[in-house]
Amino acid sequence: MQTSAPGNIFLFGEHAVVYNRPGIISAIGLRTYCEIEKNEDSLINIYSEGYGEFSAKIENLKPVGNYAERIDLLCDLISTYYRKFKIKEGVTLKITSDIPKDSGGMSSSTAVLCSVLEGLNKIFQKVDKKDYYEFLLPFQKKIHGGNASGVELFSSTFGGYNKVRIGPVRCENLGELKLPILIADTEIEAKTSETVPYVRNGWEKDKNSYEDIFYRIRQLVEEGKKAIKNHDLVVLGNLMIKNHEILAKDLGVSHPKLNKMVEIALENGAYGAKLSGGGKGGAAIILVSKEKEDKIIEKLNFCKVYKTEIGVNGCK
Ligand code: MEV
Repeated sequence: MQTSAPGNIFLFGEHAVVYNRPGIISAIGLRTYCEIEKNEDSLINIYSEGYGEFSAKIENLKPVGNYAERIDLLCDLISTYYRKFKIKEGVTLKITSDIPKDSGGMSSSTAVLCSVLEGLNKIFQKVDKKDYYEFLLPFQKKIHGGNASGVELFSSTFGGYNKVRIGPVRCENLGELKLPILIADTEIEAKTSETVPYVRNGWEKDKNSYEDIFYRIRQLVEEGKKAIKNHDLVVLGNLMIKNHEILAKDLGVSHPKLNKMVEIALENGAYGAKLSGGGKGGAAIILVSKEKEDKIIEKLNFCKVYKTEIGVNGCK
């Protein structure tokens, strides 16, 4: 059987979510797929283009402390699941993905975690969907060097648009309105484990200014929620532009290539555009009408652009 989970993007509120402010995340049309079958023996086999291969007997599975190799993420998830629920039957997993894994900004790790957990659950039914966030957060944190809010897990799990926050954790699903979006990949690797401490450093030096920045981002999130509910793309786009300006000018997490992408997208008729995720590389998202997509892609010929949708369904 096959399961899949979407990657996702931050429409609003990246970085501010780490400081217990709300953000809005959306599932994207690029997905990670997990084919899973039970084995006759007690072997676990994993085959993945992006994460590598692994084979072990169930009794030899061990949780992994630090992820030195890519495959460690999947070994850790599977051994945690097997040990927690004392499962005795082996499985073979084959994982493929549409999501570029090195660039950041599209949550490739979140999608792989959700698709594999969904696969294990289709067979063993041990974790309720409402508990996916709690179950998967420790892995997400380890990938990002202990710094992640993990809120992207909500969109990969439930799909659509989610207004999310931590401290305390809350997720309000805003529905499944599908909108065309372009995701422009800088192909510059940007690590959340570096951008989050970068912002933390600024916050520690000048908490008052940063609290003011987070307050302004919060206003954008609240307005953004209304714009999604009203299907108002003009307002939504303008709010994205404002969020990009704050990320670039006030938080300093943009990159010249991201700024150029945003500028070109806006000059060529996009409703809005912004960096998405930790920044300093990774991806920019461009909200655009179907008619204007191709022209913008042509103008962005210096980067890899994915034509996809937001607001799609979650893991299944
Ligand atoms: C990274 O994709 C998003 C950040 O807000 C960090 C996080 O929420 O874990 C920058």
